[in-house]
Amino acid sequence: MSQHLTIVDHPLVQHKLTIMRHTDTPTAVFRQLLREISQLLAYEVTRDLAMTTKRIPTPMAEMDAPTLAGKKLALISILRAGNGLLDGVLELIPSARVGFVGLYRDEETLQPVQYYFKVPEALEDRLVIAVDPMLATGNSSVAAIDLLKKAGASNIRFLCLLAAPEGIARMKEAHPDVPIVTAAVDERLNEVGYIVPGLGDAGDRMFGTK
Ligand code: URA
Repeated sequence: MSQHLTIVDHPLVQHKLTIMRHTDTPTAVFRQLLREISQLLAYEVTRDLAMTTKRIPTPMAEMDAPTLAGKKLALISILRAGNGLLDGVLELIPSARVGFVGLYRDEETLQPVQYYFKVPEALEDRLVIAVDPMLATGNSSVAAIDLLKKAGASNIRFLCLLAAPEGIARMKEAHPDVPIVTAAVDERLNEVGYIVPGLGDAGDRMFGTK
């Protein structure tokens, strides 16, 4: 993937995102739409996966048919909101290994604090797709990718639903080698690090917490 930022401007993605943003959208609908959008985003983030061919018989003839080259994939959910994206992506790529990075945001400093880290072995051999719906300040995304690189990952992509310009800039500065795929880039962050207009707290909206 050569571009640092890919915005998936597909009509279905944009339509579903608008419903998700709406204040009145209930948890169950939000969750279902996140699952659907994550599959459409997964389609884009895996667009250039390595391919090979294999000889197969069809009922009519033999052919050399395209198939994935089998490069190992790791999906890394940045807890807890990452799990909402993870579920949909896993439905599309069921053989992927899965890891979790637990970071919470200190509400005063806005800095990430690590509380969990469990990832598949041999990250250095894998395409690693880190998922987190909201790229806001970029602090937790940068910290999560720092940890993944420390664990050996060198081929990383970042998949999110919404991004703020500040978060994109921060990621580009810290990890210029990590392409970002998102459904939209919003206007700005507010004074407490939330994306505006955004959709509120993604974790709260998908899990029905406050
Ligand atoms: N995390 C969220 O869930 N929402 C934001 O707007 C920013 C960070």
